[in-house]
Amino acid sequence: MEKNNELTIQKLNNVGVEVSGLDINQPISEEIKSQLHAIWLEHGIVVFRDQPDITPESLIDFSRIFGPLEMHPLKATTSSEYPELFILENGGETDKFNTAYYDGEAIVNRLIWHMDLHYTGKPNRGAILSAVHVAEEDGLTGFGDLAKAYSALPEQLKNKIADLDVAYTFEMQRIKWRFADNSGYEPGPFSPKSPSDVGFPDFPDAIYPMVVTHPETGDKILEIVEQFLDRVIEPEKVGMTQAESDQLLHELIEHIRRPEFHYWHDWRIGDMVLWDNWRAMHCTTGTRAGIKRLINRTTIEGGYTLGRQLAANA
Ligand SMILES: [Fe+2]
Repeated sequence: MEKNNELTIQKLNNVGVEVSGLDINQPISEEIKSQLHAIWLEHGIVVFRDQPDITPESLIDFSRIFGPLEMHPLKATTSSEYPELFILENGGETDKFNTAYYDGEAIVNRLIWHMDLHYTGKPNRGAILSAVHVAEEDGLTGFGDLAKAYSALPEQLKNKIADLDVAYTFEMQRIKWRFADNSGYEPGPFSPKSPSDVGFPDFPDAIYPMVVTHPETGDKILEIVEQFLDRVIEPEKVGMTQAESDQLLHELIEHIRRPEFHYWHDWRIGDMVLWDNWRAMHCTTGTRAGIKRLINRTTIEGGYTLGRQLAANA
């Protein structure tokens, strides 16, 4: 069938959709572009498979359908040739900094549930991942729909969290992330201890409403992810102690971990995944030491500040 005339949408497991009928290297009409944009808004997680030849240029051009592209604030991780490309590499020179132990096994680049650039208070609008080299095993990317997670909360809990704010603390050491599941986890010998160890600037705490209203769709998003989650701000204003509010966060973390909100992408060459970073969290299983995996990412600029930053030293 000729490509780029008609898109077909198929639901994935639990959340998100797969779109077929597209070839990103062929011209895409304005009509198809606006359909793609609408699919992204409606479903939040969009998979494209069997793209015959994704070049950096074609990925960058395709990504611009969804908005202006953002250069990542951390220059070290972008391609020198294509500043719009963020390169995620396993099996390369940066492995030693990204290796940690899980039940005694060395794993590279495992990341728990997070949203990109969440720590800045201004998360990017979205992103696209494109597989350049896939791992023979592992190397999965998980996506979680936090609009669905919010909708599935009991009404009583929705009311309880409606006016609460939550703080995320930028911290390199996973062991200090208060709501990570660190059972069986041990940092590697080169795991960064402070942001400057890997050339990152430091960031003050980012504060978000626990329920963010998506600026474009109006959907309510449960703004709870594992990475950097630290505390509820002034829980006493709704009659809760700090300990009770920690318990509430544990409950919400258990909620977002429910598999019914998740889609796991097992990469093949020619795959791309687009997601709405204002709505969907993601994570990676990582790979065993020495396994090669290369993913290119483009980042769609976030035009809104969804959170706010606490002033430094506040
Ligand atoms: Fe990420």
